[in-house]
Amino acid sequence: MSTNSDQTQAPIPFLDLKAEYQSQKSEVLAAIEQVLDSMQLHNGPETRALEEEFAAYCGARHAVAVGSGTDALLLTYAALGLGPGDEVIVPSHTFIATVAPLAFLGATPVFVDIDPVLFTINPERVQAAVAPRTKAIVPVHLYGQPADMAGIQEIAQRHGLAVVEDACQAVGASYQGRPVGSLGDAAAFSFVFTKNLKGYGDGGIVTTDRDDLAEQVRRLRDHGRAGKYEHAVFGLNCRLDEMQAAIVRIALRRLEERTERRRQIAQRYTQALQGTELLPPAERDDVRHVYHLYVLRSNRRDELAAHLNEAGIATGIHYPIPCHLQEACHAAGYAPVSLPETEQAAREILSLPVYPELTDEQVDRIIGAVVAFDAATAAVQGVA
Ligand SMILES: Cc1ncc(COP(=O)(O)O)c(C=O)c1O
Repeated sequence: MSTNSDQTQAPIPFLDLKAEYQSQKSEVLAAIEQVLDSMQLHNGPETRALEEEFAAYCGARHAVAVGSGTDALLLTYAALGLGPGDEVIVPSHTFIATVAPLAFLGATPVFVDIDPVLFTINPERVQAAVAPRTKAIVPVHLYGQPADMAGIQEIAQRHGLAVVEDACQAVGASYQGRPVGSLGDAAAFSFVFTKNLKGYGDGGIVTTDRDDLAEQVRRLRDHGRAGKYEHAVFGLNCRLDEMQAAIVRIALRRLEERTERRRQIAQRYTQALQGTELLPPAERDDVRHVYHLYVLRSNRRDELAAHLNEAGIATGIHYPIPCHLQEACHAAGYAPVSLPETEQAAREILSLPVYPELTDEQVDRIIGAVVAFDAATAAVQGVA
């Protein structure tokens, strides 16, 4: 179904990190130079400034910068005291890093199904999974859309459970007017270079209103230090370095404008998909979705992906194998579960490119290729 003109056009990558870098290169290089001139490489002024600015951005009392989103989750789970014998309710339709730190601590992830329209954890399933050993719930604001936090908070309060937001994909999103990062006991964010707010390497941050959790995460990220060689608890080295902190601060200043561009592109895709056989992502009317990923559904997903690939348009699948079906769960000895909505979503989802550097012409090209696929398959179905 590709045309000659498709083949002569430059491919559209799934992300264009080089273009983004070019747009802020002089600022980034100046910030790196400043850090290097100071030779203060961690626990310095850039990290502290980022923590203040990020806490204010999320409306949280504290923000504690760490080495990655995975660190943010691990240290938050550890600070909550989660460990052997504890059950934690999680979606399976997420990146494995939501779950793996729980297993590392010896806690047991209890996988529940998603709302098939929103892709986020289904509060009814969460309620059904609450058991005497349940200690926490981890809603994931998947693809940039906040989970149903009212439903989750209600269950958490009724049963005395902690709520940890996995906000790694959702910086800048809000739920009923409140920013993610301020909606649970604590939240984890990722600054890995693919995320909406990124450094050039790894990074992450924990936000919380709880003084006890902030203090414990601070200790755990830096060898459990109480003094230079005094260690109050066993900790790890999960610090964010000053160069990454400086880069993330630059990106934070541009985040709102860039998020609006993502939302604009998403809106164009969604409008274009109306009246086709392809299902655009649903956006709750009480949230700000930040479109870290634009994920549509199709029961011809693989054909659509191949068609777009031929037209020079890169796509992704987030994620093709749900967590509960990963070999790691089998190896850990977790009881098999069946999660029909999650398993069906994994077969049908396809992510289109949705980054601010996409030009209107590129967006037109993507829409044209998707709509052409739909028209062609509809015609074939009509003939059959
Ligand atoms: C939902 C989710 N949780 C956790 C993580 C882990 O973040 P990181 O890669 O920074 O460790 C990511 C991103 O990679 C993610 O998308």
